Amino acid sequence: MEMRLDDKVAIVTGAGGGFGVAYSRALAESGARVVLADVNLEAATSAAKDLEGEGHDCIAVGADVASEESAAEMAAAAIDRFGGIDILVNNAGLMSEIPFGQPLSELSIDFWDKVMRINLTGPLICIQAVLPSMKERGSGKIINQTSGGAFGPAGVYGVSKLGLVSLTVSMARELAPFKINVNAIAPGFVTTEAGLRSTPDGFDQVVQQMVPLKGFGETDDVTGALLYLASSASDWVTGQTLNVDGGWVMRI
Ligand SMILES: NC(=O)c1ccc[n+]([C@@H]2O[C@H](COP(=O)([O-])OP(=O)(O)OC[C@H]3O[C@@H](n4cnc5c(N)ncnc54)[C@H](O)[C@@H]3O)[C@@H](O)[C@H]2O)c1
Repeated sequence: MEMRLDDKVAIVTGAGGGFGVAYSRALAESGARVVLADVNLEAATSAAKDLEGEGHDCIAVGADVASEESAAEMAAAAIDRFGGIDILVNNAGLMSEIPFGQPLSELSIDFWDKVMRINLTGPLICIQAVLPSMKERGSGKIINQTSGGAFGPAGVYGVSKLGLVSLTVSMARELAPFKINVNAIAPGFVTTEAGLRSTPDGFDQVVQQMVPLKGFGETDDVTGALLYLASSASDWVTGQTLNVDGGWVMRI
């Protein structure tokens, strides 16, 4: 079973961050043409330049997933450059900006709204923006980046990420008639800069104990799941959340 993505067009949001760079690279190395979108255009441009330097076909776009107008421009840029959209990776999210263990009982509602807008509404906005092109093409793959934090007490972050699991299920049912698969990846503790910033000092020992296969994982421990969900290998899989976390979260 092939996991090649030759001639496919992929958009990765949050493409300038730890996961976004790794995901964009994995997609490009599998043959996809990649739109690297990030609110931080400088970071996306730098990642895109690295890939271009290696002969991959990609562009960087400044895009705020919380803005419908910005997401529409992102989709238009992809269509303008590459003719359509096959794959959307909803990876952008707030995580390290959220203080570890922040109690919900004292959380400012403005901050709650901000996290929900980016982590949960943002993916919906981006799905709505790419749908016309995917429907026109007659197929599509949408991958939402949730988190193992969705399945335990992880404050506003966990609530937003569990919402994304639910969005995945509802959209999977709704878009199945259009041959658009919607799945999610729930990584565990991963050593991106933001991932490390998100946990308190000395947390390594706790992670070692919680994660049966090893402690922190690397982004490359997760890219295989992305390629599976982005490729034809997963054509009969939709509405699923794949936990990629060294066995941290186990569900029956
Ligand atoms: N690192 C981990 O351990 C871990 C574990 C589980 C899930 N995740 C999830 O993976 C994703 C990426 O995490 P990361 O570790 O690479 O973090 P990161 O902070 O390095 O990357 C996030 C990227 O998203 C961008 N971004 C933020 N708000 C945006 C917006 N409104 N519009 C567009 N882009 C925006 C940032 O500029 C940044 O480049 C997040 O959704 C995070 O919740 C990370």
